[in-house]
Amino acid sequence: MQTKPSVLVARAVFPEILHKLEQHFTVDSNQDDILFSAEELARRLQGKVGVFTTGSERISASLLAQCPELRICANMAVGYNNFDLPAMTSAGVVATNTPDVLTETTADFGFALLMATARRMAESEHFLRAGLWTRWSYDMFAGAEVHGSILGIIGMGRIGQGIARRGALGFGMKVLYCNRKPLDAATEAACQARHVSKTELLQTADHVMLVLPYSAEAHHTIGAAELALMKPTATLVNIARGGIVDDAALAAALRNRTIAAAGLDVFEGEPAVHPDLLTVPNVVLTPHIASATMPTRMAMAGLAADNLIGFLVHGKALTPLNAPAP
Ligand code: DGY
Repeated sequence: MQTKPSVLVARAVFPEILHKLEQHFTVDSNQDDILFSAEELARRLQGKVGVFTTGSERISASLLAQCPELRICANMAVGYNNFDLPAMTSAGVVATNTPDVLTETTADFGFALLMATARRMAESEHFLRAGLWTRWSYDMFAGAEVHGSILGIIGMGRIGQGIARRGALGFGMKVLYCNRKPLDAATEAACQARHVSKTELLQTADHVMLVLPYSAEAHHTIGAAELALMKPTATLVNIARGGIVDDAALAAALRNRTIAAAGLDVFEGEPAVHPDLLTVPNVVLTPHIASATMPTRMAMAGLAADNLIGFLVHGKALTPLNAPAP
């Protein structure tokens, strides 16, 4: 009898997904969800041809050199800044991610965070829970208007476009965006969005939303200089990746009221959070949950599993990020 190929599932995952993988592979899983060190990951990958990863497993050139049998890494995330893609391509390892299945869910969350930030929902809830609410007053937790305001989106991929549609069609917002490449005219029209420079966007928008992928060039896209360009009444939302915002500079800007408020789902060095962000009141903080609904997480895990099965069993990954020479 032919032996099944061996794969590693590096983090805990839905039992249904493990079961699906077990139909095709000998599966080494990590249902205890203990985060592997780089050494432990390399050790567990010995003899494995595939790995199911999440954003917390770093696939580096050094790891690849230690795992010569590895042929595919399937990330359960649309972002893949945990992958050294050029090193994977030169090592002949296929990389896959999970586009599309999380677009609308993540756009929903981006919009929810925008509204919670603009309308001061976390700050006012903490006030109420602390027993500080004794009477109504005319300006208590008065925030910024969302409907009819100006939304600036940095990074206009699938999720950015979903947020633009929500803003323009649902809330009558004027939508500005900046992106490495402007959208084609039809997509721009569907999103009712106008391409502008980053400076114009920062100076004009009432709400700035970050949805760009992380790269070395995107590091600290928003730092002290950019925050200083924004309106003092403006809000900033980051659902992209930690490191795109200089979190120390943001905490200072929030404390000094350079901008009004921020909503953050991702952090530099997460799960650690810059201590200054924990002490400023005008920030809504969530633990990287923008794609976290059960149906969407199931779809993401299913697509990552299907990429392993597609490539290792049928010879073709569904959503490849690279095409290494065979
Ligand atoms: C993604 O898919 O990139 C999300 O951030 C979850 O990691």
